[in-house]
Amino acid sequence: PKHFVSLDTLSLDEIMGLIEESLRYKQGDMPPLFDGKTVANLFFENSTRTKNSFQMAERHLKVQEIPFDVATSSVTKGETLYDTCKTLEAIGVDALVIRHPESGYYHELVEKLNIPVLNGGDGSGEHPSQSLLDLVTIFEEFKTFEGLNIAICGDLVHSRVARSNASVLKRFGANVVGCSPASWWDESMGLEHRDLDDVLADCDVIMLLRVQHERHIMGDIFSKEDYHARYGLTPARVERMKGQAIIMHPAPVNRDVEIAGSLIEHPKSRIFPQMTNGVYARMAILNRALGGQL
Ligand code: CP
Repeated sequence: PKHFVSLDTLSLDEIMGLIEESLRYKQGDMPPLFDGKTVANLFFENSTRTKNSFQMAERHLKVQEIPFDVATSSVTKGETLYDTCKTLEAIGVDALVIRHPESGYYHELVEKLNIPVLNGGDGSGEHPSQSLLDLVTIFEEFKTFEGLNIAICGDLVHSRVARSNASVLKRFGANVVGCSPASWWDESMGLEHRDLDDVLADCDVIMLLRVQHERHIMGDIFSKEDYHARYGLTPARVERMKGQAIIMHPAPVNRDVEIAGSLIEHPKSRIFPQMTNGVYARMAILNRALGGQL
């Protein structure tokens, strides 16, 4: 099966193919239709964008969604993730979109299942569909990744988005740095640690991350106001960005923490266009998994 659990398992040619396919859908190309194919979306963590844009992509491809609600499923009786997925395979589901709090939850599934697993985010591990839509957004803007200066800023250690993007953007030849408080730094991403104020003026992309309140207690370290003043994107900092530079954030956003609320729909912001691109990216991911071609 054509699993989609990490962009690290795909070649750069394959990833570029998915980016170009996503942009063709955006330009109006008809996607392949999968009448009769079924997908279940299993979200063990909450989601607005990922779940709804996978559902929208499924509708565009005429894939039938088999509704799956963790809270009313037999997961509540102690059924394992593997047994749950094997059950859905047994009843005829053709692909599974899964978000789960455990990093790397998919290892057993990709070994044993005969249907594709599409990772909608695994704990602090990876978020490959977000990463693909981020690549689509950057490529749409700059037509290349080579030599772009990109700063990934904020709560790196808890961020699956940062982990996925740091890896793939470096593979594509971008100059990627990380800007974060020392306590939220993650050496394993292999980024150079810089101060946002020192790199801001040279950056093509400022990629902000959500402070993940559910994974730690920010009040232990900073007040929201202190964090915003020291590490957040403020109107004064935006004034120092290059003319063509853009602001990205996977959302949901903590307004006035990692980014000033007034900047979310700033002309430089691609936050809502990222969400639009997410539908096209997920159409390409589903097409790859279900075996169709553009
Ligand atoms: N960007 C993102 O993954 O958002 P959701 O958690 O709402 O899916």
